[in-house]
Amino acid sequence: MVVLPTRSLGRNGPLVPRLGLGLMGASGTYGLPNADAERLAFLDEAYKKGERFWDTANKYGDSEELLGKWFAANPGKRQDIFLATKFGIKPNPGGKGMKGFTIDSTPEYCSECIDTSLERLGLPYVDLYYIHRLDKVTPIEKTMQAMVQLKNGGKIKYLGLSECSAESLRRAHAVHPITCVQMEYSPFCTDIESPTTQVLETARELGVAVVAYSPLGNGVLSGKIRSREDVSGPGDSRGILPWLREENIQSTVQVVDQIAEIAKTKGVTTAQLALAWLLKQGDDIFPIPGSSKIERLEENLGSLSVSLSEEEEESVRKLAKSVVRERIQTMTGYAFADTPPLQE
Ligand SMILES: NC(=O)c1ccc[n+]([C@@H]2O[C@H](COP(=O)([O-])OP(=O)(O)OC[C@H]3O[C@@H](n4cnc5c(N)ncnc54)[C@H](OP(=O)(O)O)[C@@H]3O)[C@@H](O)[C@H]2O)c1
Repeated sequence: MVVLPTRSLGRNGPLVPRLGLGLMGASGTYGLPNADAERLAFLDEAYKKGERFWDTANKYGDSEELLGKWFAANPGKRQDIFLATKFGIKPNPGGKGMKGFTIDSTPEYCSECIDTSLERLGLPYVDLYYIHRLDKVTPIEKTMQAMVQLKNGGKIKYLGLSECSAESLRRAHAVHPITCVQMEYSPFCTDIESPTTQVLETARELGVAVVAYSPLGNGVLSGKIRSREDVSGPGDSRGILPWLREENIQSTVQVVDQIAEIAKTKGVTTAQLALAWLLKQGDDIFPIPGSSKIERLEENLGSLSVSLSEEEEESVRKLAKSVVRERIQTMTGYAFADTPPLQE
């Protein structure tokens, strides 16, 4: 059996693999999902390769149902998986694009969602439960009280936040220790490091780990995306990403090609270099590349044995800086979200 290197997720937190598995794409977003048989076989292989840190959310298409099928077929393997799911993005039936959802981090929605998630998963608990987005209306202490109740009731074990501000993290952590924050982090997107957001700095001060989502820049940092056609297939929503817009895609591809040159001289793939770049940022960073293909999962796990010199790290950082930095989450208005103070 393969055992991947592990680290503690947050100060004194549970041991999890340094590289997790994002399951959003396997249920849509970047293309149409594969048939169940293929996706269940993918999960079997991921398990065999030692990948035990699985990331889903109640909004990732049928992801939780698919996992429910896998756990039903593999009851003895449940305790080996560190399973994370999320709530807070409520679908608006019939709405498209940004009108397709409402952000809801009320205590009521929190309690409602965990029950639906557990039912879909066919499980009595999840290991990690994230507040996926903060609705900017509900004081975070209220949402946290609901999360703590879920923990006390045995439905969740560890608590996480996503797309929160440093201040929200601080306030949440004062109610109950936060194990990790899930934030967009890649050579293309380093906002969490900035003195403006102070998210990374605050997480480190509090002993909270950072789970890096979209670590491959939504697949672009693999070097496989060359044109708008590559992101315009059925079910692929990446065409709206700022760095993939008509006017930006060619310059993005040029930057990725330069990063690919560094990878080539090291004898690694571009995706491996991008993931190793993130791993080099600290033992408290846990990238969760998304994939639906076993050969890509294998390739990505290969990044665990790639090390970068300071010069290589800096070169990738400098090259990536010239890519358009605008974020889709900023456009939605829910990036680094704050909430009003609690009125007792
Ligand atoms: N908290 C949040 O708000 C939030 C937001 C977005 C994502 N997430 C989580 O983070 C995970 C990862 O983010 P992401 O999926 O947005 O982006 P990502 O990991 O940066 O990229 C995923 C894309 O890259 C492709 N890919 C993966 N490895 C590859 C390789 N070695 N070579 C070529 N292509 C490769 C995948 O294609 P294939 O499937 O074809 O392999 C997929 O299209 C998600 O699955 C989800 O769990 C969280």
